Amino acid sequence: MTAPWWRDAVIYQIYIRSFGDGNGDGLGDIAGIRSRLTYLRDLGVDAIWVTPWYPSPMADGGYDVSDYRDIDYRFGTLAEAEELIAEVHAQDMRIIVDLVPNHTSDQHPWFQQALAAGPDSPERARYLFRHGASSGGPPNNWRSVFGGPAWTRVADGQWYLHLFDAHQPDLDWEHPDVRAEFESILRFWLDRGVDGFRIDVAHGLVKHPDLPDIETDHEDMMEPPDRTDHPHWDRQEVHEIYRGWRKIADSYGPDRVFVAEAWVAKPERLACYVRPDELHTAFNFDFLRCSWHADALRAVVDCTTEALDAVGAPPTWVLSNHDITRHVTRYGRASTRGGGSQHEPHGPVDVGLGRRRARAALLLMLALPGSAYLYQGEELGLEEVEDLPPEVLQDPTWERSGHTARGRDGCRVPLPWSGFRPPFGFGPVDTRPWLPQPQRWVSLTAELQKREPDSMLDLYHRALRLRRDHPALGEGSWSWLPSAPGVLLLRRSPGLVCIVNVSNAPTTLPRHERLLLSSEPLQDSVLPADSAAWLEVPGVG
Ligand code: NOJ
Repeated sequence: MTAPWWRDAVIYQIYIRSFGDGNGDGLGDIAGIRSRLTYLRDLGVDAIWVTPWYPSPMADGGYDVSDYRDIDYRFGTLAEAEELIAEVHAQDMRIIVDLVPNHTSDQHPWFQQALAAGPDSPERARYLFRHGASSGGPPNNWRSVFGGPAWTRVADGQWYLHLFDAHQPDLDWEHPDVRAEFESILRFWLDRGVDGFRIDVAHGLVKHPDLPDIETDHEDMMEPPDRTDHPHWDRQEVHEIYRGWRKIADSYGPDRVFVAEAWVAKPERLACYVRPDELHTAFNFDFLRCSWHADALRAVVDCTTEALDAVGAPPTWVLSNHDITRHVTRYGRASTRGGGSQHEPHGPVDVGLGRRRARAALLLMLALPGSAYLYQGEELGLEEVEDLPPEVLQDPTWERSGHTARGRDGCRVPLPWSGFRPPFGFGPVDTRPWLPQPQRWVSLTAELQKREPDSMLDLYHRALRLRRDHPALGEGSWSWLPSAPGVLLLRRSPGLVCIVNVSNAPTTLPRHERLLLSSEPLQDSVLPADSAAWLEVPGVG
């Protein structure tokens, strides 16, 4: 029996606003995805995940949804979405959509009704409206992930909770309407043929009923709490919701899946989300947050696989996404620790070093068991754009932090596809992309890299093809082999070894029959610093 597709799929994240612009309004759209499906199929990915495409005022790039059953006019129409789903399937790929259940837009009809209905009304009970503290301030000390208080006061004096932007009021998941509505939304998209859902803020839906103060006065999204009784993150009560969702997905057959975005303290907590009757997979942010050190990487792989094996779920691996400083930039910094959240201090970046490590990291990631997520543009080796002028910044973090944190726009700059000047084929010639593309990306366009034998794009092509064809890669057994300090030696069966030199000195390749792929050119069986290789080795086990 073959394993379900999602246990070792490579899934490509499309941040729709920045992938491809079909109509020239500067914003990516469904037409832009449809015209590039062949690129994705040729790249060798198994599935795409499309970030929110629903009608939205775009206060948080679409993560503020005002209608869960339609498509924003800037992205296209529901009919186009249905065509895209069919075309993705026709290309033998799958499609996952983004579900945003923690909060709606403040323009969602429910929130508008709640505002109109007034304090203590049944309409307000779908959200978390409360009276202020006796001091006149907000009901408690919770902070928004984007900076500032997590409460906003409305005209009649009540406050509502928003763990993110003030335009993203949190729903009250104790309310039966909320539960019923999201079950219906799931069915709406499953009926349209989507293969699964990425669940936004999966660890945040349920809040402590008393909404008590948090002892520390600042909870960073990037610093998940290492405790089980946090008032709003990773509470036990969320699991019951997912057990209900799993039943719905299963009723559509074994191939519809969920992936949780859950920022939790440790793999054991993540494993709770992917128990057999809950979600199928969850992003493993520990890998993304890990520093470029052999021992640290090995420890993350060990802890992750151990915790997930215990519940029978496959691990996932991810290096970048639309919320995090791109990994070329992270790996190019002296301190490579951390996901590069907007709250982290910046340091000088050696982009060349970052790209070199990114190439090696790809070979490690794709050699590990389980499934992997790629973020659009990483196959081109894009770095974070850290010099966007302040006047173009759109991430709500910029305003909410009082202009102290620039936010996540730097990893969301529209892709360079072709040509010699912006918009680099992102849209028709006169398109002005919603964020400006740096002229230096002229050397990173997909068109150019397709013709360069050792480009980043070429490495992705070759690695993904091998991963698909080689019987040892994907699901299956694995083990570490003894190795020199700073070197990772990962054995996959049958007959493959992945070696990653994370140290700053060259190392010798182990005995092998054939070099399958390397992230850098090799000479005389020497693997340079910050590089990796896949080797065919003798033996079965
Ligand atoms: C996580 C998403 O990835 C991020 O982009 C968004 O701002 C927050 N959730 C809030 O929806």
